[in-house]
Amino acid sequence: ARKEFDSHVSNVHDLKSLEELRLKFLSRKGIIQNFFEEFKKLSTDEKRKVGKILNEFKIYSQSVFEELKEKLEAQKKKSESFVDITLPGRVRQIGSKHLITQTLDEIKSIFKGLGFSVYEGPEVESDYNNFEALNFPEDHPARDMQDTFFINDKFLLRTHTSPVQIRLMSQKKPPIRAIMPGKVFRNEAISAKSYCLFHQVEGLYVDKDVTFAELKGTLVSFIKQYFGHDVKYRFRTSFFPFTEPSAEMDVWWQPKGKEGRWLEVLGCGMVDPNVLKNVGIDPEEYVGYAFGMGIERTAMRKYGIDDIRILFDSDLRFLNQF
Ligand code: PHE
Repeated sequence: ARKEFDSHVSNVHDLKSLEELRLKFLSRKGIIQNFFEEFKKLSTDEKRKVGKILNEFKIYSQSVFEELKEKLEAQKKKSESFVDITLPGRVRQIGSKHLITQTLDEIKSIFKGLGFSVYEGPEVESDYNNFEALNFPEDHPARDMQDTFFINDKFLLRTHTSPVQIRLMSQKKPPIRAIMPGKVFRNEAISAKSYCLFHQVEGLYVDKDVTFAELKGTLVSFIKQYFGHDVKYRFRTSFFPFTEPSAEMDVWWQPKGKEGRWLEVLGCGMVDPNVLKNVGIDPEEYVGYAFGMGIERTAMRKYGIDDIRILFDSDLRFLNQF
């Protein structure tokens, strides 16, 4: 029986054959139990001889069984954690930068190349910084032009990034040369052309002898780097309370298959002396230029997008294209 048991043991390679071994030898109806049944029938003399051998065999076979069981279970565990490197990988979906963020990054890097640093201000702004210090007289209809979201009578959601000019000039002595990107808010009717929220990049350069020609040169250099050297652009005279003289810059926009037209991309001008006075800079000593551009329009022109709302929709079919 011992020989038979050992030869069975050598055939056990997995948990299934181990179970077969247990059934055959160690179970209630197995060979060993059978021996004990037979043992009862023997005479006392014979019992004395066989008993010891039988007990030893039982203990021996049980310990072999336990040992095998432990070994095979460990093996099984190991094989289950095996990594099959030949399986095709699972592709993990990762996000990407929104088109507006990409555009802002690109604009920042162009202006960094032109010697501008980057400065940011808050989206909730005081009426003073957003309007008054920028030379919008109180009760002037120009305030209505900007369709403001008021928070109370002192604070509002900024309608442009120009108040960041005020913050910067109040904190720092010239020379100042910085761009100021961020979100702005206007209570306008939502359409393909306008949304209640959009982004601007403000620019400011204040020093002893800054000229309008430098302003033009900087903006032309920017527009060519951003849209390509063959971009068609023009300057038009305009009005802003905080710049004098003021201008707007347009670029030619021709969506595929549609009629082309001029698209306004930015406002600009020489910083009004009243603004400099408001921040404690002497307009006899310093001059400055400023500009502010709408980011959505710029991006729409570049990528041929004709509805601004798609930029705020979070539609993956759109987002995945960039
Ligand atoms: N803040 C103006 C606007 O929102 C743009 C501008 C900025 C114009 C700086 C001139 C100088 O339309």
